[in-house]
Amino acid sequence: MNTLLPVDGASLTGRERERFAARMFDSLAPKYVRLNRLISWGADERWRRTAIAAAGIAPGDTVLDLGTGTGDLYIPAYRAAQPGGRVIGLDISANMLGVADGRIREAFPGIEPQLDVRSAEATELPDNSVDVVLMGWVLRNVGDRPAAYREILRVLKPGGRFVCVETSRPGFWPFRAGNYIYCKFVMPNIVRMVGGDRASYEYLAKTTVNFPRRPALTEEWTRAGFRAVRSRPLMLGSIALHVGAK
Ligand SMILES: C[S@@+](CC[C@H](N)C(=O)[O-])C[C@H]1O[C@@H](n2cnc3c(N)ncnc32)[C@H](O)[C@@H]1O
Repeated sequence: MNTLLPVDGASLTGRERERFAARMFDSLAPKYVRLNRLISWGADERWRRTAIAAAGIAPGDTVLDLGTGTGDLYIPAYRAAQPGGRVIGLDISANMLGVADGRIREAFPGIEPQLDVRSAEATELPDNSVDVVLMGWVLRNVGDRPAAYREILRVLKPGGRFVCVETSRPGFWPFRAGNYIYCKFVMPNIVRMVGGDRASYEYLAKTTVNFPRRPALTEEWTRAGFRAVRSRPLMLGSIALHVGAK
């Protein structure tokens, strides 16, 4: 059954995009971990390890995981911040956070995960309070990226780092063509296989194909006010890792 609005979610912006994404991820939550592994052919855990290494999280750090989802970045970030550190996980989907809560408690018996339903554009955290902001496959869903950048710069401590891993498009055209075919024809079938609806797979494919390529995103971050922005391609450029500082 299609539980989503009968609209093209990828064409929405701002609060409408946020509402669409929240409903979509709410409905994908029970299938998300499996979906992730299948879409990435099991490589997503390696990309997350790369992102965590790039974040340089130190014991005692305060880490903000924006768009926590089912907790796949939260868990290694929490491990890296021990002893003494904490990870705050925010997401617009309560169902995704519900799954994250169970997985985090299982990984670290006895801890009380800090999870809240809030958006990247309005975290409600104090100014200059966070050492590292993480985003894993979230930025392309954000309805108002400039607002999210302002919010990240506000909550980061001076010198703090913003690390983002996101789908991208390869620069070399044969790889880009292959990536397009994968997003357009293979990925929809994987989403359908795990029980995702049409609106979900169309949204996932379109947001991947329409998201700024790596050099454009690097420039966007620099214009937004991040310093020393650097990026690297993963998986032949179909994934991009960006790091910027406040
Ligand atoms: C593809 S999942 C990725 C989850 C997780 N970061 C990971 O690495 O697996 C994207 C998550 O971002 C959340 N999200 C989308 N837009 C958001 C926003 N504006 N603010 C916060 N979370 C958002 C979704 O609800 C979803 O849980």
